[in-house]
Amino acid sequence: MILFQQVQAQLLANPKTWLITGVAGFIGSNLLETLLKLNQKVVGLDNFATGHQRNLDEVQILVTPEQWADFRFIKGDIRNLDDCKKAMLFTQYSAVSSQHLPVDYILHQAALGSVPRSLEDPITTNQSNIDGFLNMLVAARDAKVKRFVYAASSSTYGDHPGLPKIEDRIGRPLSPYAVTKYVNELYADVFARAYGFKTIGLRYFNIFGQRQDPNGAYAAVIPKWIAALIKNEPVYINGTGETSRDFCYIKNAVQANLLAAISDNPEAVNQVYNVAVGDRTDLNQLFALLRDGLAAKYSALKNVQPVYRDFRAGDVMHSQADISKAVKLLEYQPTYTIRQGLAKALEWYVVNV
Ligand SMILES: NC(=O)c1ccc[n+]([C@@H]2O[C@H](COP(=O)([O-])OP(=O)(O)OC[C@H]3O[C@@H](n4cnc5c(N)ncnc54)[C@H](O)[C@@H]3O)[C@@H](O)[C@H]2O)c1
Repeated sequence: MILFQQVQAQLLANPKTWLITGVAGFIGSNLLETLLKLNQKVVGLDNFATGHQRNLDEVQILVTPEQWADFRFIKGDIRNLDDCKKAMLFTQYSAVSSQHLPVDYILHQAALGSVPRSLEDPITTNQSNIDGFLNMLVAARDAKVKRFVYAASSSTYGDHPGLPKIEDRIGRPLSPYAVTKYVNELYADVFARAYGFKTIGLRYFNIFGQRQDPNGAYAAVIPKWIAALIKNEPVYINGTGETSRDFCYIKNAVQANLLAAISDNPEAVNQVYNVAVGDRTDLNQLFALLRDGLAAKYSALKNVQPVYRDFRAGDVMHSQADISKAVKLLEYQPTYTIRQGLAKALEWYVVNV
């Protein structure tokens, strides 16, 4: 049995209390779905900057009423320290009284994503991603949570040319967003050394799947292209299409979060990990996979071609992870390849776009 199965059985047998920040977003709402299905108690914090009530509504439909009753949502902002502090407690109601349970584990996802957004508005990105991150660290340290797992990013590799990417070989950041994610790692490391606080950073590599927002100027490539194809709109490739990424299905990222929170391997703590599949797909291949996947349902798409335009500032040309550190220390085992993940994601977008 792989460790993740054991961890899920362990959590079912002995439920814990969790805080997910960014819970109304793509990754946060998928974490919520998994934890509620494992009968965990969950506090969620979100200010709906880029997340949506509809993501929470969908999770409510996917879990039982009893599981949903173990979710407490706080509409709040990580830029406000009081909101962060409030989120450290789960309120348990009974017929006669209420009781406050401390949060055991934090999965910190709240941040403003997108390289282009950060290039256009570095100040707002900095406020949520650095000031907000520091507020969360302080509130979590003071509340004595057992572990603080946070969303780091592959953008931290910046201009380092090495492939595949290995955790301790990073270059200079290429965008304000990348700076914020690197600063998160520095703060987490200092909190470990200065206060003995336990953190784990997960450097996500292009996560995709159900509930990733296909709309808006800053949408990620996979949902944006799927929505464009379904609506018969042009698909734009920035550059020649040889740009490549290690696209990773959401269920793999959810697994990494739970393993990081629960791991009792002392060597695994206060580290950062690549979270990916360890594969590389270029944009031309990705386009063909999506078009062919959708053509089964929309036959008119069979011969559609992308429109090529200029390469985008701040983007890295190639990205591929070495996942051996997460495999060794967290016993992470990605269970979905890009093709398997895309098949699942397409099923969802066909119904929801
Ligand atoms: N999706 C990816 O491929 C990817 C890759 C690398 C890193 N990440 C990181 O993973 C995390 C989750 O990303 P996602 O793809 O789910 O994005 P998302 O935009 O869907 O989710 C982010 C959530 O955080 C919330 N949020 C933003 N600022 C906030 C604030 N100040 N206070 C409270 N809530 C706030 C948003 O409303 C949203 O619900 C982010 O930290 C992101 O930087 C994602």
